[in-house]
Amino acid sequence: MKTRRQFLQKAGLLSGASLLAPLAGKAMQEKLDYAFRSRAGQSADALATDEDFWAMIQQAFTVNSNLINLNNGGVAPAPKSVQDAVERYARLSNEAPSYYMWRILDQGREPLRKKLAALAGVSPEELALHRNASEALETAIFGLRLRQGDEVILCKQDYPNMINAWKQREKRDGIKLVWLNFEFPMENKEAIINRYIGAITPATRVIHLTHIINWMGQIMPAKEIVREAHNRNVEVVLDAAHSFGHIQYDVADIGCDYFGTSLHKWISAPIGTGLMIVKKEKIKNLYPLFAAGDPESEDIRKFENLGTRPFHIEQATGQAIQFHQMIGGERKQKRLHYLKNYWASKANAIPGVRVATSLDPAYGCAIGLLQVEGKTPAQVDSFLFEKYKIHTTGINWENIVGVRITPNVYTLPADLDVLVEGIEKCRKA
Ligand SMILES: Cc1ncc(COP(=O)(O)O)c(C=O)c1O
Repeated sequence: MKTRRQFLQKAGLLSGASLLAPLAGKAMQEKLDYAFRSRAGQSADALATDEDFWAMIQQAFTVNSNLINLNNGGVAPAPKSVQDAVERYARLSNEAPSYYMWRILDQGREPLRKKLAALAGVSPEELALHRNASEALETAIFGLRLRQGDEVILCKQDYPNMINAWKQREKRDGIKLVWLNFEFPMENKEAIINRYIGAITPATRVIHLTHIINWMGQIMPAKEIVREAHNRNVEVVLDAAHSFGHIQYDVADIGCDYFGTSLHKWISAPIGTGLMIVKKEKIKNLYPLFAAGDPESEDIRKFENLGTRPFHIEQATGQAIQFHQMIGGERKQKRLHYLKNYWASKANAIPGVRVATSLDPAYGCAIGLLQVEGKTPAQVDSFLFEKYKIHTTGINWENIVGVRITPNVYTLPADLDVLVEGIEKCRKA
């Protein structure tokens, strides 16, 4: 598994833009080829501040140049090569849908499963294709065999769709939800781990864990929590909606039992793509959300009985993987971290302004939560949009209040300078 993954990463770094050759158009392909060739051997740290390189990457997107989109945490735009593939596959499907969708495009499903599995560091026999993280995670949440009185540990800062799914199980099946409540940001792994492990009782069956908390970007120590949970016979559902393609890890190394993510966030795949991963030995006992011929089958494909779906969207995920690998996971993570810290350290220096996200790469990456004294999130959000055409999102969830700022690989420091100016003016307004 590792060897294949390393091979793919290496291929991405060495051949660079040539992976996009059939899709990106000749001029773009030549530019990207040059950008990669001329930087061969450059470290990810050095590349993180190489603005000529990232300006070239920006050209692979079709983002609006008159709007500064800093809500890539909601959903990310796809590069042009991915958009083109979606359009091409959609047009092909409409030539004779049942023929082109089922007999031609769907032939790509197994190769796609393999590519995604290599990227995640798991076996293809553990990975199912879904339409988003909610679908993947709700398949796990509703598929688990839990009985009245069984306990599930989760936290108030988890994602609402997942919280609602667990609450529905509580109402319907009488399971007990055990709530943790955190004051983020936290820069103490032990303290986080101890909160989860300290909540385990003999009735605990599952920990639901969000790998990167979407509201402010806190990275949770997933591997350590999984290890401690397993030592106590507790399973872990990992909500990786914000971590997959954003920070580097192997899912098998984290060791969680059930894993769900969107691909339209940090992989920049077409909007409406996601995946779930279930450990091989756990597949049999997990019921599918959409019934299968044999619900106790050990075949991961039993989780893909969604009926007719947009094959053109699913299949164009392959182009997004190519794009992601062309940049390389480590380079992407380092650049995203650099961009967050670029604006956040300047913002932190403004009196009355605070960034409630860790600047330490162990606890935070691209996402940052901005707080401006005396202003509500809605006021900051509309000020930035009205005066500077900066698109952000206001957060007011449990004890988290602020404006979430999320750049992506196409964001340039010049955009973030505009943001910092906007924050300064907003504070004084
Ligand atoms: C932590 C987390 N989990 C799950 C989801 C759901 O993702 P999707 O909308 O792709 O289903 C999100 C979306 O923002 C999220 O941030």
